[in-house]
Amino acid sequence: MRSFRYIFTTIFLSIAFWSYSINVIPHPIEYDINPYIRFEFDENTAIVVKNKELYDVAETVANTLRSSTGYNFPFKKRGGNAITLRLDKSIKNREGYYLNISPYSIDIYGGSPAGVYYGLQTLLQLLPFEIESNSIVKRRWSVPCAVIEDAPKFSYRGLHCDPCRHFLPIDSIKKQIVWMSKYKLNVLHLHLTDDQLWTIEIKKYPKLVEIGSVRQEADGSSHSGYYTQEELKDLVAFAAKYCVTIIPEIEMPGHAMALLAAYPELGCIGENYKVRNLWGVDENLLCVGNDTVFDFIQNILLEVAQIFPSEYIHIGGDECPTTVWHSCSKCQQVITDNNLNNETGLYVYFLNRVDSILKNIGKRMICWDESFENGISDDATIMIWRDEKSLSKISNTHRVLFTPWNYCYFDHYQSDNKWESPAQTDFTSLKEIYDWQVTPKTLSQTQLNNIWGIQANVWSECLFSNADREKMIYPRLLALAEKAWSVSDNDWNYFLKRVDSAYVRLMI
Ligand code: ACM
Ligand code: ZN
Repeated sequence: MRSFRYIFTTIFLSIAFWSYSINVIPHPIEYDINPYIRFEFDENTAIVVKNKELYDVAETVANTLRSSTGYNFPFKKRGGNAITLRLDKSIKNREGYYLNISPYSIDIYGGSPAGVYYGLQTLLQLLPFEIESNSIVKRRWSVPCAVIEDAPKFSYRGLHCDPCRHFLPIDSIKKQIVWMSKYKLNVLHLHLTDDQLWTIEIKKYPKLVEIGSVRQEADGSSHSGYYTQEELKDLVAFAAKYCVTIIPEIEMPGHAMALLAAYPELGCIGENYKVRNLWGVDENLLCVGNDTVFDFIQNILLEVAQIFPSEYIHIGGDECPTTVWHSCSKCQQVITDNNLNNETGLYVYFLNRVDSILKNIGKRMICWDESFENGISDDATIMIWRDEKSLSKISNTHRVLFTPWNYCYFDHYQSDNKWESPAQTDFTSLKEIYDWQVTPKTLSQTQLNNIWGIQANVWSECLFSNADREKMIYPRLLALAEKAWSVSDNDWNYFLKRVDSAYVRLMI
């Protein structure tokens, strides 16, 4: 729905230029653009910040503008030759924005600081690609006059990061945050623990990193790495400047070999666990018949909650073969005492206890879709990864995040080039992601309302370096961003044209 302000401003732009396309990813909802009338930046162009909440996003983007243009972009109280940033309560979607570029001034109105940030990202994409350069480029800096009204389709637009299979320096994660935010993704799902490494310092349980953050590889070498709490707090603050929330994942009751190697008494067998040096699924789980396990989880989650302000914590829950629970007398006792039918009932009992722990510390639970069993807490948010078709079933009753492996696993091959680096055996091309019908037309309004958003997952078994990871993420992230934000018509050639323009920015 075009606002009055939008219609009014477009009158002077629109006389002959309705049909100009716009090289922006994700594509905005409404725009009009006139490439023949331009706003010219010069050494006097200022930034005017009308609300104090906007200083952080203004400073973040001013730094990008300063480093490539060499102009100072001083912050001023008012002025014509300026980018003026304002909060605007009439913008219903908090991440929505309205951008008006006239020959004399640029105005951005946002529903929140994030909305203003996204308006600024659109402005950056309208500037020449050298705007992303880290060193000064001498050239004319101008943008076409335009009016753009925009807001996201989904409020959760995620990218996942797995430092457990191959550890990732914190600076690589920061770079990922910067670039995902340029394409208007807003959640980094940080998979901090798994069978192959425990990567988060927990002060109460120091052995988690002393033992769990190192694995001996089959060839005798070792692979290791973890983040201190200080590093993670700094990462959270960094992400906030780019309007990215970090949701940590602490895997349980499976994918817990690094934890069990450090504290073997918490497993059903109780000894001889090693940080796993094979990929795949291990059959060892945390023991549900040992109440210390729940104290341990609570203490870990308390520390995690103090690092990550996110309302949500992901607790994994995927790939839990229940054979060890079947032969553990303590686990079987819990089944009997609580009238549970079997190990599946025990699994739901475990997750619901963790859900209560999270609620007690003011957090909410996300878990993978294996958790969608009878009796799982109504408040659990289910992250669907296995079966695309289960969306319609699960979204009837639960809030869902949609990350089906056949579209959203960026560890798959993406080309038919035989020299492509090793990846997981499946294949997911840019075009497949672009053509993905995220929400089938048959879904009811209730089901649609329950879809919080989508996310791409970047499991790192085959990704040895950050360069390997970036090759897998790009360009597919561009198609994901388009699916997560835009409601645009399916026009592959137009998308490819915009991808070309994004490429030069990503390569700079
Ligand atoms: C998963 O890929 N096991 C969530
Ligand atoms: Zn047990």
